[in-house]
Amino acid sequence: LKKEILAVEAVAPATSANLGAGFDVFGVALTSPRDRVYVEKMDSERIEISVEGEGSDLIPTKPDLNTAGIVARELLATTGRNVGLHIDIRKGVGPGSGLGSSAASSSACALALNVLLQARLSTKELIEYAALGEMASAGTPHADNVAAAILGGFTVVVSRRPLDVVSLRMPPHVGFAIVLPDITYTTKEARTVIPRRVCLSKFVQNLGRAAAFVAGIASEDISLMGRGMMDVVVEPERERLIPGLNDVRKAGLRAGAAGVAISGSGPSVIALVDKSKVDGMQVAKAMRDAFETAGVRARYMCSEPGPGGRVTKCITG
Ligand code: HSE
Repeated sequence: LKKEILAVEAVAPATSANLGAGFDVFGVALTSPRDRVYVEKMDSERIEISVEGEGSDLIPTKPDLNTAGIVARELLATTGRNVGLHIDIRKGVGPGSGLGSSAASSSACALALNVLLQARLSTKELIEYAALGEMASAGTPHADNVAAAILGGFTVVVSRRPLDVVSLRMPPHVGFAIVLPDITYTTKEARTVIPRRVCLSKFVQNLGRAAAFVAGIASEDISLMGRGMMDVVVEPERERLIPGLNDVRKAGLRAGAAGVAISGSGPSVIALVDKSKVDGMQVAKAMRDAFETAGVRARYMCSEPGPGGRVTKCITG
């Protein structure tokens, strides 16, 4: 007799999007932190959400406002299933950090529900559903964070409609030094400053940088990747949201980073380091010190490219 699946747990990692010139296109999965989402069937036909962990007090539990709740609502509608769900989210990725907090929850939720509802979604479909969750935080279903959170490694959103995504392994010795300033704004706010038009010379510069970043990955040249981590279109507009950013960038590069960029929509800042040559912690500390000199308190951490999300538990009965 086939047993019914009653509950499923999945995890999905923090991610860093853009990486300089790859706005809404590039993403990388990080080894830590990560979110854990446990979804259980309930008798009622409601979706209930509980949230614990990093920044959980800032996360709405109303299903229509919660990134995992939106994924669940859409998946239930598509599969035509009339089950109630309790979604328990354990946040490891702080909301509003620029490290793909909403993507970690929505991706883990999509992965868990795919098994719980036996939806048999392809990887692309999982990314599409998880991207719908991004609507709650960004106001647009951008797929750069969720692609990385599901596929792992470095990802490129080749096309959004239809969705076409590729994943590449980053070279050995790639490390990241990350600094998280104590600044609050939402991704929605950070998207309102994006220019609606781009002048051709800036377009050309960004294209060169983005191509350099991918060429650096292909040729395992971390220094070339670092030269590609420059964005003359979106970052200059977001700079005013992050006091001290320019000095932080300079401090990171002086301490040996190959490149420095705003992580996603910020406010965290990510530096690429060649771990065989540079101590990532020294880079992270240098960037933290630069923020503090600018009067902004900041935390720091180091990470590496990591795998995508996965199902960790399946309870049958
Ligand atoms: N690409 C998105 C942005 C990432 O920069 O707005 C948001 O995390």
